[in-house]
Amino acid sequence: MRTAIRPTHLHFRDLANHFLALSSGDRFLRFGWVMTDVEIVAYVESIFVSADNAWAVVEPDRDISGVMHLESMGCGVNLGLSVSAWARNLGIGTLLLQRAGLLARARALTTLFVRNLRLNAALQQLALRLGMRVACAPNALTTSLEVAPADGHITQLDEFRGKITLADDSLRSEWNAVSGDPSLLDLPEPIFH
Ligand SMILES: CC(C)(COP(=O)(O)OP(=O)(O)OC[C@H]1O[C@@H](n2cnc3c(N)ncnc32)[C@H](O)[C@@H]1OP(=O)(O)O)[C@@H](O)C(=O)NCCC(=O)NCCS
Repeated sequence: MRTAIRPTHLHFRDLANHFLALSSGDRFLRFGWVMTDVEIVAYVESIFVSADNAWAVVEPDRDISGVMHLESMGCGVNLGLSVSAWARNLGIGTLLLQRAGLLARARALTTLFVRNLRLNAALQQLALRLGMRVACAPNALTTSLEVAPADGHITQLDEFRGKITLADDSLRSEWNAVSGDPSLLDLPEPIFH
């Protein structure tokens, strides 16, 4: 069974290798733009400044198959999640998203921002299965799965029902603009750190 651990400096090279192996498309979804290799190494260094917010799944051969990072951005917290291409569809993304939800709840966060969430059907599906809400545009809130998987079996874990919202990063400024009246967006007010 896989578990997520907090990476230490001993994992630096494996963490860098995990991110460097992401394709351009994955880098775009994970970081919001196609990060260069140099930017990725700088990013991995920055992770250790606040290592308590990063979690990694380490395989028996020491390869890192998945990383989750909650980044405080001054006005809200960003969620970054990545699973190595060779390790997908094994439940690692779900495991890390569950961890993110538990950390958010422990810190009384109701909203996690995600870059390019509107373009990321896979992550939206994972969030909805865990009972999280998904917000990709003002006044557009998705709260349940709309498409059943091919085998018709929906695994609704329901763990975070209504308590955590994944919001597209583009909503951050609109949320701030109406923070005096969050009902305009029909969304819960995010808690800023
Ligand atoms: C999104 C991501 C984290 C999912 O990780 P994962 O370990 O494959 O996730 P899981 O194994 O827990 O779940 C995969 C599920 O998503 C579904 N899925 C995969 N791609 C999908 C897509 N394009 N549209 C809808 N569902 C999709 C799979 O069918 C699977 O569902 P199943 O359990 O019914 O088979 C991974 O694909 C990834 O790292 N992508 C690149 C970076 C990224 O997008 N990060 C998120 C934004 S920060």
